[in-house]
This record gives sequence, structure tokens and C-alpha cells, in this order.
Amino acid sequence: MDKHIVLIGFMGAGKTTVGRQLARLTSARLLDTDSMIEKQAGMTVSRIFETRGEDFFRRTETLVLEELAEMDRPAVISTGGGMPMKEENRRALRAMGCVVYLRTEPQTVLQRLSGDTTRPLLQGEGKEERVKQLLARRDPVYRETAHLVVETDGRKPAKIAEDILNRLRLGTAEEARGGSRRE
Ligand code: S3P
Repeated sequence: MDKHIVLIGFMGAGKTTVGRQLARLTSARLLDTDSMIEKQAGMTVSRIFETRGEDFFRRTETLVLEELAEMDRPAVISTGGGMPMKEENRRALRAMGCVVYLRTEPQTVLQRLSGDTTRPLLQGEGKEERVKQLLARRDPVYRETAHLVVETDGRKPAKIAEDILNRLRLGTAEEARGGSRRE
């Protein structure tokens, strides 16, 4: 592996779980932007939203990305679901390596995150509607940012990770022949 693999996608897409599998298969480190933010702030993402507000969280997200961009050693990077929503972040993400969008249907997100209390954007009433609206708004942005789009519904994290690696290897060969590695 000679550059970072960057995982993007909605909350509950499995970025951290698939990231762990990718790290295992490639012997690379797994870095998680939410964990980095929590470490720096000394509190959980929920607590940051509660006490400092979402804008503060978004600014910290961009700062963490800048830190990651300085890192030479290739890693698997799992990002928070809102990371690609800023243009400057999208540019930074794509410059860092291969960006993989883990795609999910709203129903899968709702199933995976039923009972979750750690995502401030999905607390309270009207969760289903919120997931549908947010996902509809973000899906085109995730697609625009990604070099590779991978379906995750009904698939095991280990299989998704293998699929990503196979397609990246193929993608590199295709690229060398002048092709594209988008779906
Ligand atoms: C967010 C996703 C979360 C976390 C924060 C905001 C979002 O990360 O960064 O709660 O805006 O989609 P995960 O995608 O890892 O859940």
C-alpha cells in the first residue's frame, strides 16, 4: 500500500468496522477522525456538540484532516459522516489517497443505529425522516468525492474490505492503461 485508503459515507455505513478489516489485511494503521477529535478535545463527540456546538466540531474536523494530510506513512482513515460536506475537506480527502464511499440504504442505517446514543444528529423524534433527508442530500456529495463506490447493504465487513482491495489493485492496473476506477 503506497497511499492512504480513506473511507467516507453516512453514519452507520461501517467505516470503522470495514476500516479495521482493511487495516488487518494491509497491515496498515487505522486512524479515525472522530476518535482523534475526541482525544484532542478530551470529550466525546456528543459532549462536543452539546457544550461547544456543531460549528466547533466541524472546524476541528478540518484541522484533524490537515494533520492527517501531513502524514507520510500510508494508513486506513475512517472519517466522520459529515466530513466531505465542506469543499476544502473534499479536496484534502481526494489528495490524501484513494477515497472509498461505503454506500448504505436508509433502512440499513436505521437498523444498524437503532438504540444508538452517540450520534447527536440522530437523536430525538423523526429519526427515519432525518436519515432519509440527510442521506439524500449527502449521497451525491459522497459520490462526487469518492474514487470508488462500494455497496455495504447485507454484506459482511471482511468481504467488503476484500472487495475494496481487489478493486483498488484492479483500479491501479486500469489507471495505468488510461482507464477509470469509478463504478
Ligand atoms: C456525523 C457523523 C459521526 C460524527 C458526528 C457527525 C455526521 O461520525 O462525526 O456525530 O455529520 O454524519 P460517524 O459517521 O462515524 O457516525
